[in-house]
Amino acid sequence: MSTAATMNSARIRDLMPDDLPEVVLPRCEVRPILKGQKAIVTGASSGIGRAIAVGLCAAGADVVVNYIGDGAPAEEVVHEATHCGCASRGRAIAIRADVSDEKQVTDMFRRTIEEFGTVDILVNNAGMQQDAPLEQMTLAQWNRVISVNLTGQFLCAREAVKEFKRRGVRAGVSASAGKIICVSSVHEVIPWAGHVNYAASKGGVMLMMKSIAQEVAPWRIRVNSICPGAIRTPINRAAWETSDAYNDLMRLIPYKRIGETDDIARLATWLASDEADYITGASLFVDGGMTLYPGFEAGG
Ligand code: BGC
Repeated sequence: MSTAATMNSARIRDLMPDDLPEVVLPRCEVRPILKGQKAIVTGASSGIGRAIAVGLCAAGADVVVNYIGDGAPAEEVVHEATHCGCASRGRAIAIRADVSDEKQVTDMFRRTIEEFGTVDILVNNAGMQQDAPLEQMTLAQWNRVISVNLTGQFLCAREAVKEFKRRGVRAGVSASAGKIICVSSVHEVIPWAGHVNYAASKGGVMLMMKSIAQEVAPWRIRVNSICPGAIRTPINRAAWETSDAYNDLMRLIPYKRIGETDDIARLATWLASDEADYITGASLFVDGGMTLYPGFEAGG
């Protein structure tokens, strides 16, 4: 590195604030921008899916809280969503289905249509990590992560598109015949050593989403991805639970705070609404700058 470059990097570091306040996000005024719409949020019993389900319901949508495993956390989400105090909130029900199982997915869509009449919004959120160094990663770990994170999104998108095309645009409810939001990750573009199954699944989600978006746009169906960075959820607890881990994580986040699930829920609610009607085929990063090559902040 030249002397001038070294001086410049040192100066940038010196100028960085070291005492940032704890973030307190305002609870946004909820507008009923999804009134009358019907939504399925997969993997909605915790983390990002939970916040999105509550957010969509607060904005007026009737929401299916999809879950796998124990039903109690999903029922808590149903309770939270339907007791949020927003006057125009929608209804919510919990439906159990493993998104990687074709029959369980078709059953979930059938039940949703029986209960709510149709589906306007699919949030493809269910996802998991099973991390291991490459040579220790089992085929079962590879297959499970690909089946849930990628095949699960395909199966749900396919059923949603069938319903959107069957029904067409519902005048007065939404400008489009349907919306699909894929919850992807910064790891659809950032390689991730020790997580090759996860990164491969998210890279797959990117081109799956864009290819579906291109195919179904003429039917007025919008398909987009939200790409979260590090969001405070159980999936990455080890990365934020201790102050050492949190400080390490901050080296990857120029904005110097972890993301909260509401950061994602607010975008999902807006993206599902007609306010975002001209957006399709986009990967929207919500990552505090994680994709800005933070290693170059004081180098290069
Ligand atoms: C992963 C998290 C991780 C984040 C940023 C997400 O997609 O699920 O575990 O903290 O990406 O690396």
